[in-house]
Amino acid sequence: MAEFSLTTDSQDPGLETAMEAIYQWNYGSEVEELRRLYVKAAEQQWVAERDLNWDQEIDQELFQTTPLGFGIPFERCSYWKSLSRDVRWEVMRRTASFRLSNFLHGEQGALLVASQLVNCVPHTDAKFYAATQTMDEARHVEVFSRYIEKLDEVQPVAKPLKRILDATLATGDWLEKLVGMQIVIEGLALHSFRDMRNLTEEPLLKELLTYVARDEARHHAYGIMYVSQAAPLLSPEKRESLENFALECASALVDRRNDATLATEVFSLWQNAGVDLEALLESVRKEIPVEPSVDEHGNRRFGAIQGFVIPTLKRLNLFSERVARDFHEVLAANLQRNLAGETYEEFMKNLPDLPEDTSRWALEEMGATAPH
Ligand SMILES: [Fe+2]
Ligand SMILES: [Fe+2]
Repeated sequence: MAEFSLTTDSQDPGLETAMEAIYQWNYGSEVEELRRLYVKAAEQQWVAERDLNWDQEIDQELFQTTPLGFGIPFERCSYWKSLSRDVRWEVMRRTASFRLSNFLHGEQGALLVASQLVNCVPHTDAKFYAATQTMDEARHVEVFSRYIEKLDEVQPVAKPLKRILDATLATGDWLEKLVGMQIVIEGLALHSFRDMRNLTEEPLLKELLTYVARDEARHHAYGIMYVSQAAPLLSPEKRESLENFALECASALVDRRNDATLATEVFSLWQNAGVDLEALLESVRKEIPVEPSVDEHGNRRFGAIQGFVIPTLKRLNLFSERVARDFHEVLAANLQRNLAGETYEEFMKNLPDLPEDTSRWALEEMGATAPH
């Protein structure tokens, strides 16, 4: 244990945030479904130290089933197969550690935002719920940090992620915090956790993601329940600014036109591990057709934004034609056009529905009825 001091080398300078602390003198329930969610959250608390088997070492063979991410099956191209076993392991290990490190930093951001929500949301039920989420996020920071310790070192936060965490922390508007965190960031995280959890066969990682995904599904449900109560009461200007905030957060992570994205940061990691990036991309381009991928039930698979975040915004009535066109433009510029939809109309027609039961969906317990 390090010696105690008032400041540490690893802390950031303080970020200025705007937030009002609201006392609420009505302790009775005003939003009953949030009160029920709070009770459920209390019942589903778990203890990382007690409930996970930390003694097990990472199984390298089984770890290879962990997806690299980005929805592109790099592993299937001939260039990838021509790499030595050592280089492949190095790429897998570093990529997973990059993804897990950003999950970890995202969890810290969620911890800070959830604790802000206790202060600034105006309803008692919502404050109670945010208190349970704060506890959940502390546990998530704990488990990701412990898992990465077994795999590699923690890597620094990716710039685009830090930008949207900062924006969500800094805004003084509690609805923007909910939309930025519970709808966009946690929507993207839940999608990635689900993907990694369902494919990896590494036992400790799978177990850890199962617990975390169950909590995250609840956090996302909180955002949906609360924002859907608030949305019909908003002025057109307020609705528009919330829509813009959601677009800004979502596109920060995928829009390669502005700045480094998560993908560019990962590619540079691969180059450092000995991958000839041009050769890899060329091999993928030649051998792997760009076509919409489908799951085992024949349903079209979408990325996190198109497949989850946008359907959520649509359900919340925060997806006007104006912002939908902007979303299409961002996706079309960053994905192959046939994945985003050649036209705005096609993009809209393809949008999937939100899963009815997010928790069951995240844990893939819906069998043949699983949504895309
Ligand atoms: Fe979390
Ligand atoms: Fe969360």
